Amino acid sequence: MTTSEAYNHFRETLEYIRHYFTGEVEIGIVLGTGLGRLAEAIEKEHQLAYNFIPHFPISTVESHFGRLIFGRLAGKRVVAMQGRFHYYEGYTMYQITYPIRIMKLLGVHTLLLSNAAGALNLTYKLGDLMIIKDHINLLPENPLRGINLDQFGPRFPEMSAAYTPELIAQARKVAQELEIPVQEGVYVAVPGPNLETRAEYRFLRIIGGDAVGMSTVPECIVANHMGMRVFAMSIITDIGDPDNLKPVSLEEIIRVANEAEPKLTQIFTELIRRL
Ligand code: HPA
Repeated sequence: MTTSEAYNHFRETLEYIRHYFTGEVEIGIVLGTGLGRLAEAIEKEHQLAYNFIPHFPISTVESHFGRLIFGRLAGKRVVAMQGRFHYYEGYTMYQITYPIRIMKLLGVHTLLLSNAAGALNLTYKLGDLMIIKDHINLLPENPLRGINLDQFGPRFPEMSAAYTPELIAQARKVAQELEIPVQEGVYVAVPGPNLETRAEYRFLRIIGGDAVGMSTVPECIVANHMGMRVFAMSIITDIGDPDNLKPVSLEEIIRVANEAEPKLTQIFTELIRRL
């Protein structure tokens, strides 16, 4: 794809969205597996199904809704993705990160990401929340590969503070005040869709990961490319203990995510109030 093709896509998507929603948005939210219910806390002004938005990919995973929600949360103007796009679904990195580009063009300056993840750090428990303080990208492709979209950001974006330190500090404080325990750790992104073998969990721990999942990193990279502030949080839905590995199912992962979701919703809502 050429740069001008990409810019034409963006323009057509924006024209469609602006036809239905003309307001401002400042904060973007991406809701991960089992975490779609945060959307209920949003005072909705408009909702658009992904399959009607030009150039938006269509969500294929049953556990994800596929819509873009415009409204207010904690008094702030937000746009939320209820359902995201994963590499394992077969999408290109351009498709996976397309909605994040659109958020930027709609005025979003701060992006909040959530996901379900497996623990590599064996002090973590099921249902724990983990503030992502850094990541390791093991996905086989990079969303910035190819001709640089100069209007969005530089060819070689730097990633020394990929997850905005002020947002991490604020979230830590919010969690303390709400008396919700949170972990802080490094998220490793893998392609999936299979979960890890014992040897892989061991390897991911050795290279410095605290949690592993199949999302978030592409969105974080593109957001950093565009100069957005980024905050991300995982819910620990299974424990990748190489010496004591139990089979897990998607149903269990979703159940644990659903159970822990109210804690994440509280932290996100309160963090947004203070942004
Ligand atoms: N591995 C990879 N992705 C995941 C996991 C896991 O253990 N749990 C939830 N998403």
